[in-house]
Amino acid sequence: METSMGTGPEQDIQQLRQQLQQASYAYYVLDDPTLPDEVYDRLYRQLQDLEAAHPHLITPDSPTQRVGEKPASQFTSIRHNIPLYSLENAFDLEEYRAWQGRWQRLAPEVGEAAAVAELKIDGSALALTYEHGVLVRGVTRGDGTTGEDITQNVKTIRSIPLRLQIKNPPPRVEVRGEAFLPLDSFERINQQRQQAGEALFANPRNAAAGTLRQLDSRVVAERRLDFFAYTLLLPEGTGAAAQLSLLGGEAAGGDGEAGEDGPSTQWEALTYLQTLGFKVNPNCQICPTAEAVADFYEAWSTQRLALPYMTDGVVVKLNDFALQRRLGFTQKAPRWAIALKYPAEEVPTVVKSVTVQVGRTGAVTPVANLRPVQLAGTTVARATLHNRDRISELDLHIGDTVIVRKAGEIIPEVVRNLPELRPADALLYPFPTHCPECGETLVQPEGEAVTRCINNSCPAIVRGALIHWGSRQALDITGIGQKWVEQWVDQGVVRSVADLYTLTAETLLPLERMGEQLAQKLVTAIQTSKQQPWARVLYGLGIRHVGSVNAQLLAQHFPTVEALAAAEPDAIASVYGIGPEIAQSVYQWFRVPANQQLVAQLKIAGVQFAADLTPAPDATPQPLAGKTLVLTGTLPTLSRHEAKAKIEQAGGKVTGSVSAKTSYVVVGAEAGSKLAKAEKLGVTILSEADLLNLLAE
Ligand code: IVH
Repeated sequence: METSMGTGPEQDIQQLRQQLQQASYAYYVLDDPTLPDEVYDRLYRQLQDLEAAHPHLITPDSPTQRVGEKPASQFTSIRHNIPLYSLENAFDLEEYRAWQGRWQRLAPEVGEAAAVAELKIDGSALALTYEHGVLVRGVTRGDGTTGEDITQNVKTIRSIPLRLQIKNPPPRVEVRGEAFLPLDSFERINQQRQQAGEALFANPRNAAAGTLRQLDSRVVAERRLDFFAYTLLLPEGTGAAAQLSLLGGEAAGGDGEAGEDGPSTQWEALTYLQTLGFKVNPNCQICPTAEAVADFYEAWSTQRLALPYMTDGVVVKLNDFALQRRLGFTQKAPRWAIALKYPAEEVPTVVKSVTVQVGRTGAVTPVANLRPVQLAGTTVARATLHNRDRISELDLHIGDTVIVRKAGEIIPEVVRNLPELRPADALLYPFPTHCPECGETLVQPEGEAVTRCINNSCPAIVRGALIHWGSRQALDITGIGQKWVEQWVDQGVVRSVADLYTLTAETLLPLERMGEQLAQKLVTAIQTSKQQPWARVLYGLGIRHVGSVNAQLLAQHFPTVEALAAAEPDAIASVYGIGPEIAQSVYQWFRVPANQQLVAQLKIAGVQFAADLTPAPDATPQPLAGKTLVLTGTLPTLSRHEAKAKIEQAGGKVTGSVSAKTSYVVVGAEAGSKLAKAEKLGVTILSEADLLNLLAE
């Protein structure tokens, strides 16, 4: 007989959603996973199946609704109910004290008031609206008054709850905070863009803002944005209502009495945001005095450099909402808060000339040659100018004094021009119309920032393709370096990657500084590369967006080149880890006749275009066979996904939680409670470097 509990689809769906939501919160907000990945995936699929069978039961807060299916065609403008003000800046502690003096003159009896010091996250501000506890809208800051509705993209950010974690949520809650790209994701995206010959994002802030405005939310989901909440706005009748009416400029009665149930200080608001299910940056502090603020600012000036995300200052907010209300706003910014910025790593210098470099994909990158300057501890003599549009924006003349910046690990870039310092005889820099390498006309495809040479036999493109083909992660051919490749291409000995396999010691001998032994060694290395597996070959082809990890994923799923070449974009994108952008790029690559011809020639040469399915007894070494590993925190170079793939290739297993059976815990920056647990259980702890050493064994 049926029990009154009932196990209809509705209850099942609800239960699954709850389990998944709790697991996601534990993973993305607390960094303390409760479910192994496989279990999560299984529950997720069960929910998807149930929802597919009962589409009327799908609700916007279901975990399956995090990624939209259809790209948006454009974003709608939304007027913020309450504007997003900017902050006044202080560039040193003296300016900070001057600000303190200004608000103290408006509230003379207050004296030293407690303030909350928070890190200023270098990302993009978002305003999130929850109605009856459900996320209904996510809007960019825009100009502060009007932003863009990017709800679909916001939903892909796993640390943003789709539903608030409290029983009786107020009818309407607005939460504001900073969406940002963790540095490892930023670097990964830029590496992919570089490989794909696309313009690099200048810094994580631009990358975050650009990502949020992507029309295809599936691309956004791949980029792993994160979010820290810092402002809570509750409607009338709750504590922060005073804040709300104040911000809206319609203070009821002027004294803005705070209700009893909501937070009445910024510190309480931060705690409450955590209760609601948000991630709040843990590096914040109540500072009773200006000295405490100064200590916080000094301490974080270096500590911040070890964080896995970018910060550019400290935001100091007077803690008490009643005091905030009393001080109010200027035209642009609150009087009760200030951004205490860290000095940017920017210096002026003079542009002596500009060179354009043609990459492996034909992308043309202009580089400024500078009068050398000291910047963030190194001498900088060259800086990227990104692309043609950036040069016109800068109105760059040779001889101009420009500002050069180095942010994080990134190559220096020219960020601004100071035309007022321009010498009278300085000439405007004319961006080349023809490829400096082959003389063909350059093109700038519609909607793209990159200018390209599209001549496949351009020596720069051929050189790049050869170097890439021989690189360590591709066919790993010892001896294929810039020096030889330049000669081969210049003298017409090699015109494409396929030509490498026709090289003989005799053809190489006449080259400068080539000896018989060396020639033979090179030919042998090239011939031996035919044994490299299909995944490396696929990477070596240099298809845009296909890095070595993606190539492995694709090669596992499509065991032959024929299967991959015949696959439709949808089938390619169905491979776990492969997004639509990558799928399109692979699909298009195989549609180009020159590429088809290259594959055919390489096949004839004997290069592997199929996975070797016979299990070799002494195949790749498996140093981690039988071992169980747990990853925690942010590793310095590998993403979680990459680390997992490497461990699995070495025969190891990755699980979500630490137990006595765990062999190793791999620990990165900001490791959570898993590290403590490992220490308690006496599990061996590894750094990323230790892991890589183990893998190399
Ligand atoms: S409070 C009226 N807190 O900095 C209060 N802002 O330069 C305004 N930001 O637009 C914001 N971290 O995008 C606040 N902990 C933090 C912040 C923060 C980063 C950004 C925010 C704002 C900009 C102002």
